[in-house]
Amino acid sequence: MPDAIGGYFELELRKGYCLYPHASGFNSARSALKALLSGLGAQRLHLPYFICHAVPDAANAVGVDVARYALDSNLQLKQLPDLQAGEYLLYVNYLGLKDRYIVEALAPHYGDRLIIDNSQALFSKPLANIKTLYSPRKFVGVPDGGWLANPPEGEWQSLLPPSTSDLSALLGRLEGEPEAHYPAFQHVESALELAPVAAMSNSTQRVLDSLDYPWIIARRLANMAALSRALDARNALDILPDTPTPALCYPLLLDTPSQAHSLRKRLQNDRIFIPCYWQEVISDPQAPDFERHLASCLLPLPIDQRYDATHIDRLARQVNAHLNLP
Ligand SMILES: Cc1ncc(COP(=O)(O)O)c(C=O)c1O
Repeated sequence: MPDAIGGYFELELRKGYCLYPHASGFNSARSALKALLSGLGAQRLHLPYFICHAVPDAANAVGVDVARYALDSNLQLKQLPDLQAGEYLLYVNYLGLKDRYIVEALAPHYGDRLIIDNSQALFSKPLANIKTLYSPRKFVGVPDGGWLANPPEGEWQSLLPPSTSDLSALLGRLEGEPEAHYPAFQHVESALELAPVAAMSNSTQRVLDSLDYPWIIARRLANMAALSRALDARNALDILPDTPTPALCYPLLLDTPSQAHSLRKRLQNDRIFIPCYWQEVISDPQAPDFERHLASCLLPLPIDQRYDATHIDRLARQVNAHLNLP
């Protein structure tokens, strides 16, 4: 079919570049993982207890057995399991802050048996020959999408059906307040759970290719540095790398679930919305105490590109006031 000329305009987006042009595009990171595990003929996947339920669900959906491992206080593996034939190990680049551990410890040890989940680390580049997943909507305004870098060989990619995107929640947030469009956002998220493995939609790809990534990175770095100055002394988690990193969030770990709960409530009353990573871990009786503590007491504070020094100052002042700091 020839390209259409004339007619009405599409939503107009600037032409930029694709962040990972050699990666395969999917409708979500979990679809990318399903395709990867099937392509590898994996039999068992080693996963952390501290992870979103979507990941073990994706492995189970393609008939792959799941084993679990525990983390230490640096969010690194307590022990490196030996892998048998057909076994792979997935590590989450937590909050985008674990690049160095992956490069220095995991990649040399596990090589092509390692799967890096960069869903929380959009700007961490894939290492050569290491299979790597991305979920860009955790960082930028797209409704869906996933990438798989260093995919298995084969024709499977061209056989993926295309997907289409529901932009209603994102467009709604442009028109008005987020609270009004939160149900639409939840609807899109639930639909992704049921969606079959498919290629990234054209609209998601176009939006991703239009973004000003250097500016996004610069804003995240500045916001992270500001929160780090304000809150590091009060933070029970000490994992920020020496090199500035355009992370997902500033992770503030408090001492008790009730402290975390009341701070979350206080921030919510000031319309500062803090997610929980991950509710399902709190109620998992198999999860070790530390992982359940993390899930209950970790507040991932926003540092994203929508915010500047004024927002970050308001956030830091609320947190400090709650914790009775000057
Ligand atoms: C660490 C991690 N990996 C993978 C996923 C799945 O990503 P997606 O929602 O794009 O399938 C999630 C959550 O959704 C996640 O938190």
